[in-house]
Amino acid sequence: MPKEMIAKLEAELAEGLAAARTEAALEELRIRFLGRKSGRLNDILRGLKDLPPEARREVGAAANRLKAEIENRLEEARLRLNAAAAPEVDLTLPGPPVRVGHRHPLTLVGRELVSIFEKMGFDYREGPEVETDYYNFDALNTPSNHPARDLHDTFYLAPGVLLRTHTSSVQIRVMEREKPPVRIVTLGRCYRRDAQDASHSPTFHQFEGLMVEKGTSFIHLRGVLNLFLEKVFPFPVKTRFTPAFFPFTEPSAEVGISCPVCQARGCPSCGHNGFLEVLGCGMVHPRVLKNVGYDPDKVTGFAFGMGVERIAMIKYGIKDIRLFLENDVRFLHQFS
Ligand code: PHE
Repeated sequence: MPKEMIAKLEAELAEGLAAARTEAALEELRIRFLGRKSGRLNDILRGLKDLPPEARREVGAAANRLKAEIENRLEEARLRLNAAAAPEVDLTLPGPPVRVGHRHPLTLVGRELVSIFEKMGFDYREGPEVETDYYNFDALNTPSNHPARDLHDTFYLAPGVLLRTHTSSVQIRVMEREKPPVRIVTLGRCYRRDAQDASHSPTFHQFEGLMVEKGTSFIHLRGVLNLFLEKVFPFPVKTRFTPAFFPFTEPSAEVGISCPVCQARGCPSCGHNGFLEVLGCGMVHPRVLKNVGYDPDKVTGFAFGMGVERIAMIKYGIKDIRLFLENDVRFLHQFS
């Protein structure tokens, strides 16, 4: 043999491969060359027994090599066919759109609050979320029998250690460290044992401001807050100061803005009140100033605090405070 036979077979294979345009045609080729019954390779193998042993070994090895080569070439041809069948890639087409992340609405509003006050000369400060009774209550003139200190309202981690219920604790920490004039704002997470519903959450954010220096009066407080409230809401607002009580301010006030839906005429969305309460404020209580070593005869100050969620809800018309914590991208993607 058989060398010529092998060469002939290779030539035939090359011809067959060149002509095969489909997988079915390749399969036919495979049967023609490697098929058990009448495959061309079998013809050669069948002739082996008539050869002298020496030649038999040589031809047998050659036939095996040939078998492997046929298999390889069939597989190559199959891959080539498949590649040709794949759709052509147009590299000039734009790719699929990339989903860009958005800032959380609380981040957006928080930054805006800080920025408005920075432009008015206030500096940003931070304080810890895990606080002591002293900073959260005592130093803020909130005596130990005050209802806010009740276990029902405050998360205690250990006796005397708690999760801050408001950011007013930061007032004390700043005044202990810094001498008047003090003009600061702070922002951070607070905790209260409130049952969760559309307007209550056991964790929320407060934004707080404090200004203490010689001659600071309620007029300054009103001026600063009016300017702030006009800037922060995207609609015109009238403001209303009503008397209130906080242990750490005297006098104290609650501040409302005219309802953006009815312009203070009264409608269901403001509870027929005409105004929406947005923050608490007042003149820093002389006892608080004394607690941090300031002389209330020399300096006076004002403070204010508000819920960041509440401001965001009014600004964007968000009806349920729980949306801020759920991280539903359908909600979050609406803000930028
Ligand atoms: N800390 C008060 C609260 O949580 C808000 C407040 C801050 C009131 C500063 C007066 C002055 O309701």
